[in-house]
Amino acid sequence: LETKRTSVSIPSACCLSSFGLNGYPNARVVSLKEIIEDTFIITGPLASRKGKELLNNPKVSLVFWWTETGRQVRIQGEATQIDDELANIYFKERNKESQIVSQISKQGEPIEDLKSFLELFEEKSKKLHQREILRPEGWSGFSITPKRIEFLDFKESRLHHRELFERREETWSSTFLQP
Ligand SMILES: Cc1cc2nc3c(=O)[nH]c(=O)nc-3n(C[C@H](O)[C@H](O)[C@H](O)COP(=O)(O)O)c2cc1C
Repeated sequence: LETKRTSVSIPSACCLSSFGLNGYPNARVVSLKEIIEDTFIITGPLASRKGKELLNNPKVSLVFWWTETGRQVRIQGEATQIDDELANIYFKERNKESQIVSQISKQGEPIEDLKSFLELFEEKSKKLHQREILRPEGWSGFSITPKRIEFLDFKESRLHHRELFERREETWSSTFLQP
């Protein structure tokens, strides 16, 4: 019997906010891939808006909200690009369709002709379905080192339980916050 570790439908989905190059904050949902050595790993193309923004300013926030368990987690930290070896591992883990999308798509660029674009995907899917697809150059990811993490347990009464962890040098301090 397969045991489900959580009732949350997509527990990895989180909102990544970065400093936009135009001065406005930018937020989008991404998938947390893994937590390695206390850093949060996300992946995607470096030439995307988020890629450019994180390379320009590594300060980010990540927010999780899990409706099923009523929990929110807010993280602030600094993003560092992962190395090629790790990027290759994450790319290999992607399913075939996602790998093909990564190959044909320049994430965030305008599509000139939607029909031809969709046809290109079909064509590539037929051609490449048995072959190994290599990671396109520029598809990579970031490891986010946290400095501030707040856990919130949502209460109907609004007497939410909030606990903040903050890192100074190598030690973490914790404080309860008023709801
Ligand atoms: C549930 C969910 C998970 C997603 N995961 C990722 C991801 O891991 N990496 C990624 O590049 N985009 C992911 N996206 C798409 C992003 O929301 C976004 O459209 C894309 O990264 C382009 O953002 P940008 O233009 O700010 O770079 C995901 C979207 C959703 C709804």
